[in-house]
Amino acid sequence: MKDKATPYDAIDASFVGAITAGSDPCSLPLASVEVAFAGRSNVGKSSLINALLSRKNLVRTSKGPGCTRQINFFDIRARDDARLVLVDLPGYGFAKRSKAERAQWADLIEGYLLKRPSLRAIVLLVDARRGLEEDDLELLDFVEKRRGSALPPLHTVVVATKVDKLPRSKAVTQLEALRKQSRRPVLQFSTVTKVGYEELWRAVRKAVGLGPAHASPTLPQEA
Ligand code: GTP
Ligand code: MG
Repeated sequence: MKDKATPYDAIDASFVGAITAGSDPCSLPLASVEVAFAGRSNVGKSSLINALLSRKNLVRTSKGPGCTRQINFFDIRARDDARLVLVDLPGYGFAKRSKAERAQWADLIEGYLLKRPSLRAIVLLVDARRGLEEDDLELLDFVEKRRGSALPPLHTVVVATKVDKLPRSKAVTQLEALRKQSRRPVLQFSTVTKVGYEELWRAVRKAVGLGPAHASPTLPQEA
């Protein structure tokens, strides 16, 4: 539960741009490391970013799937002056789309994951009630594909969302199952109770090499 100030709290947060289907994934030059939030449509990516930034409506959310349709970038300055960019990805697994539209979106997300040098970490959101599904496993494969390329490796953080929808004992078993399935540590999060706020910030900052009270690494300008 977030009930006190932490070094991670976003003092400034603003929308800085987007990449749309068909555009070059490197077309948006940004001077900070990026963390992208990925997962199935409606899992709660945009809501989780709002919760991490303690903002209600900076990022657009919706009750129905298919809300986020482009890759949106948010520039953050934390209380300890660290700078980073949070990236809201469109969700996958939304059945009500044409095949062509789904292919276009897959290109957009894959191009971004495989080509963007300032991207350092992926937060994979999974509904605590459902566990990892095929699309999520494909995404983890993509993350692995970047290894061995000239780009920095991507760290992954797995987060079980909407834990407020499960009774406590069920949440514990689901988290354990997800740990086994993903073979990674799994954090829990709820935008309703804010459980997991500080743990997730800590994991995100560690994944991009920014501990609390560290200066932000400077990146070379992208072409
Ligand atoms: P796309 O943009 O379509 O990929 O969806 P998204 O993953 O960004 O989901 P979004 O943040 O728009 O949230 C979808 C719905 O889930 C909204 O109605 C949110 O209020 C709800 N939601 C998100 N997180 C939580 C949570 O932790 N608990 C509960 N109970 N509802 C949540
Ligand atoms: Mg969204």
